[in-house]
Amino acid sequence: MIIFRRKSLSEVKRSAGNTGLKKNLGAFDLVMLGLGAIIGTGIFVLTGLAAAKYAGPAITVSFLVGGVACIFTALAYSELAAMLPVSGGAYTYVYVALGEIAAGIVGWTVLMVFTFGGATVAAGWSGYIVGIMNSMGLSLPEKLTKIPSEGGWINLPAIFIIAVLTLLLVRGTKEAAQLNGVLVAVKLGAIALFLISAAPHVNSAHWAVFSPHGFFGIAAGAGFIFMAYAGFDTLCLAAEECKNPNRDLPIGIIGSLIGSAILYILVAGVLTSIVPYTSLNLAEPMAYALRENGISIGAKVVAVGAIAGMTTVILTQIYGQSRLLLVMARDGLVPSYFTKIHRKFSSPHRGVLFAGFCMMLITGFVPVSTLGQLSSMATLAVFSFVSMAVMIMRYQKPDENRPFRCPAVYLVSSISMILCIFLFAQLLPENWVPYLTATFLGVLVYVFYGYHHSALNESSTLG
Ligand code: ALA
Repeated sequence: MIIFRRKSLSEVKRSAGNTGLKKNLGAFDLVMLGLGAIIGTGIFVLTGLAAAKYAGPAITVSFLVGGVACIFTALAYSELAAMLPVSGGAYTYVYVALGEIAAGIVGWTVLMVFTFGGATVAAGWSGYIVGIMNSMGLSLPEKLTKIPSEGGWINLPAIFIIAVLTLLLVRGTKEAAQLNGVLVAVKLGAIALFLISAAPHVNSAHWAVFSPHGFFGIAAGAGFIFMAYAGFDTLCLAAEECKNPNRDLPIGIIGSLIGSAILYILVAGVLTSIVPYTSLNLAEPMAYALRENGISIGAKVVAVGAIAGMTTVILTQIYGQSRLLLVMARDGLVPSYFTKIHRKFSSPHRGVLFAGFCMMLITGFVPVSTLGQLSSMATLAVFSFVSMAVMIMRYQKPDENRPFRCPAVYLVSSISMILCIFLFAQLLPENWVPYLTATFLGVLVYVFYGYHHSALNESSTLG
């Protein structure tokens, strides 16, 4: 059937040839971009909530479980990214392996990940900024910092940060990558300071009850913090701006993911051993724990690091969304309007502005808890598709040149899929309806637009 038509590998590689994007990212930029995309709300906000509500000190194990699922998925991503160094990421891999309708749905789901994820993190950013402003006696009217369901009108600071980063990305990738590098250094410095200053206060008595809710507490904790790991996949969308994607993309993906997993486990372990986990049900757990141990200057530095961290995550979400829109538009699955590259800045400015606009619209008015869960659901769904795609590609194209090979691919990718589906099931059922409704919208976009405008309509390369 025509909706299952697939892109050929050679066609995908050819289409990447001349996009007008500058190739100026190296392995170091990619690891930084990865850390920029990954470390944010998950560690700075969600760790304490997950420990207090679900896992207790065993939140360290939850981070390990989430990290294992992600590392297995990252190996699959790395194989496909090195083999197909084009900017579509999961969407393109699925187009080649599973066909057009699946690609349309995955592309849409990745757009959901970015939109919901960016909006969630911007809301977290707003919370921290409002807190810091309040502590300096500079308060904004509550109506302008809260969404309607919380008694406000609009979350203006969240909209503001998205607007600023959108304009920065319109000006080009290199400028945004430079700012990203500085902010990543600030947030890593803040995490290092947290670990060093908290270490002398570690008290094993706080781990006396390590896993208060047993296996299910650990599993629920892992589902809850899963979005902490989201972001490494954004690197695949930078493939066409890399100097040497075959070598540098796997380094960027696996390097940034392992680095953040180690930091998460360390932070979770130290955090739950310097204060009782039951006291961590708050929005700034790391700063709180330092204050409780008399390290108030550390608490302030961590708050600044959190703001820097969340800024980099929002930046990469807007970046990723604009690049995916560009690729999908090139394929005809969304309007060709998004293929235009800015003559002066060499950025896909229309996609950047559209991505920023969607995030602003959502972050200003929708509860952050709903956005966070929807983002995690979409991420887990995309990861499952990618794990499936790598196995199918090995079967369909066993002899294709693979600069990076996922070890024990069938075992690793099956475990990754099972873990992702299991974690999806841990998320709240009340969010399944909005999630499925949003996915259904994507199917409609494909049926009424993509199907008729697909570039494959003019191509003889089917299946
Ligand atoms: N991984 C990103 C964060 O934790 C989305 O903010």
